[in-house]
Amino acid sequence: MARTLPQRTHYCGEPRPADVGHTIVVMGWVQSVRDHGGVIFIDLRDRTGLIQIVVNSDTDPDAHQAASRCRAEWVIAAEGLLRERDEATRNPRIGTGDVELVAHAVTILNEAKTPPFPVEDDADIGEDVRLRYRYIDLRRPRMSEMLHTRHRFILETRKYLDSQGFWEIETPMLLSNTPEGARDFIVPSRMNPGRFYALPQSPQLLKQTLMVAGVDKYFQIARCLRDEDLRADRQLEFTQIDIEMSFVEQDDVLEMTEGLMAHLFRTIAGYDPPRPFPRLTYAEAMSRYGTDKPDLRYGMPIVDVSDIAARTEFQVFRGVVSGGGTVRCIRVEGGAAFSRGQLDGLQARAQEFGGKGAAWIVFAEGAIKGPLGKFFPAELEAELRQRTGSRDGDLLVFSADTEKTVCMVLGRMRTHLAAQLGLVKKGVFHLSWVTDFPLFEFDDELGHYVPMHHPFSMPQPGDIEKLDTDPGAVMGQLYDLILNGNEAASGSIRIHRRDVQSKVFEVIRVSEADARRRFGFLMEAFEYGAPPHGGIAPGLDRIVAEILGRESIRDVIAFPKTAAGTDLMVGAPNEVPQEQLDELHIRVVERE
Ligand code: AMO
Ligand code: AMP
Repeated sequence: MARTLPQRTHYCGEPRPADVGHTIVVMGWVQSVRDHGGVIFIDLRDRTGLIQIVVNSDTDPDAHQAASRCRAEWVIAAEGLLRERDEATRNPRIGTGDVELVAHAVTILNEAKTPPFPVEDDADIGEDVRLRYRYIDLRRPRMSEMLHTRHRFILETRKYLDSQGFWEIETPMLLSNTPEGARDFIVPSRMNPGRFYALPQSPQLLKQTLMVAGVDKYFQIARCLRDEDLRADRQLEFTQIDIEMSFVEQDDVLEMTEGLMAHLFRTIAGYDPPRPFPRLTYAEAMSRYGTDKPDLRYGMPIVDVSDIAARTEFQVFRGVVSGGGTVRCIRVEGGAAFSRGQLDGLQARAQEFGGKGAAWIVFAEGAIKGPLGKFFPAELEAELRQRTGSRDGDLLVFSADTEKTVCMVLGRMRTHLAAQLGLVKKGVFHLSWVTDFPLFEFDDELGHYVPMHHPFSMPQPGDIEKLDTDPGAVMGQLYDLILNGNEAASGSIRIHRRDVQSKVFEVIRVSEADARRRFGFLMEAFEYGAPPHGGIAPGLDRIVAEILGRESIRDVIAFPKTAAGTDLMVGAPNEVPQEQLDELHIRVVERE
């Protein structure tokens, strides 16, 4: 068939001074048109950037005529001679700023309505409008960069894991109940009336089955679906780099993951993380940072000063310690510069964070300042300075309560103050491990233990007996990868012994019959030769968002859902015609 479209020679962002003198053809969207009468300038955009096109009426009247009709976001092709720009008109802000295309032909490929917002990075647009017109939003350079980065991230993941001997294997989307603890999305089966598939919350059960199948090293860029409430770091559909390995222990999985992360950060973010990544136990993380996903881009650990506080004359402190509680503090370097209003505001903050209050002191001129100063005699002050590493100019914020409350309040205070003080630098990455999680946590509402991760995680070797005697004290072979205070990945060594699995089900009150019904195929597979195995699943959206410095994972997903779980562009979820419901044997009942 004869070509109707001119043959493109360059992307808009490509031409350089070396191409000057060549006839080139570019295509794209009109960013802007500046009509100076006899000469029209068009900035043309595609996913690679912008190029300036110049059209003269005396030399190229037809091209000029076409150019004069062009409006923002029209789709055109331009053919002409590339020339160097005059010194005065160069634009160092764009890659093609030293050249321009003198067009002798301009072809209008398609007209466009006036866009609902300008295609510019810093246009201030409501997210609803962006999501409704996502195809225009995605033309913005930042969004296009995101799509490209995400593509490269996935490509590098595949390359690296392939180089390490992993096979990428797809697992079904139409599945049954999965064990990740969120609600399932269910899909009615037309061929099996009254029966439903569940969409996978993760490929967990199948990747374990693949280990029994002898696959040895599996991965999948896996779409996971969870019907849960949405936040900035959560979507109903998200992507995991799902990984499972046979004949491995915890250290093998951590080491492999560090290799993958180092490769990804090096190739995508130009950052070479020091290895091995620092490791904290869950207990250390909770007591030093009040969270199991501490942001370690800055310090400010929580310090126990109960023994010192008990010897002060401050009744609040003495009372809490003698009642079996604890007094701890965080040191805010330079915090003495806070205004009195800010200092007094700490009390209300602590209450917001779930505490009863907070106390503060500042060190200045070799003494303690603030209303509590009088309660600290010189020797206690010296001890306090030593314990916390404080110098003049520093602030201490105290919380006195049960250990759980104190760590929670000071952990949140730490994050809050770090943000307020600008300690969280953009473009800095910190990767670390949190290990040694308890296998179970007690669910007060249910009145029994539930898995901290999922029911297939292995207890630590010395703790198997405690499954019978003291389940709350059983530590699991569980690990989380933390990136800048986000849970970037989570995994475990799995149970491959039938007896241990039965005990775990017993602890979490899943009956044998229930386990058979929900995960029977895996239980059965385990009876036919299950190798020791374990794995991990990095959350791709969260890592890419962090690398690109985006606030929300919505900004690194081409077509995300709103917080209400809707897709504003396609209009999902929506109603289904009655015939379709009939075919599926579904009746919709109005809510009372
Ligand atoms: P988990 O449920 O912890 O583990 O998920 C692993 C990682 O996936 C990411 N993630 C999410 N990202 C966006 N939106 C969500 N709603 C969401 N939920 C989780 C997080 C998290 O660390 N099968 C196990 C993994 C394993 O044991 O191998 C699992 O799914 O980054
Ligand atoms: P109150 O006796 O409640 O008026 O508290 C006196 C002061 O003790 C308050 O202004 C706070 O500085 C401090 N305070 C109260 N509760 C706590 C707490 N749970 N932890 C630390 N300091 C507290």
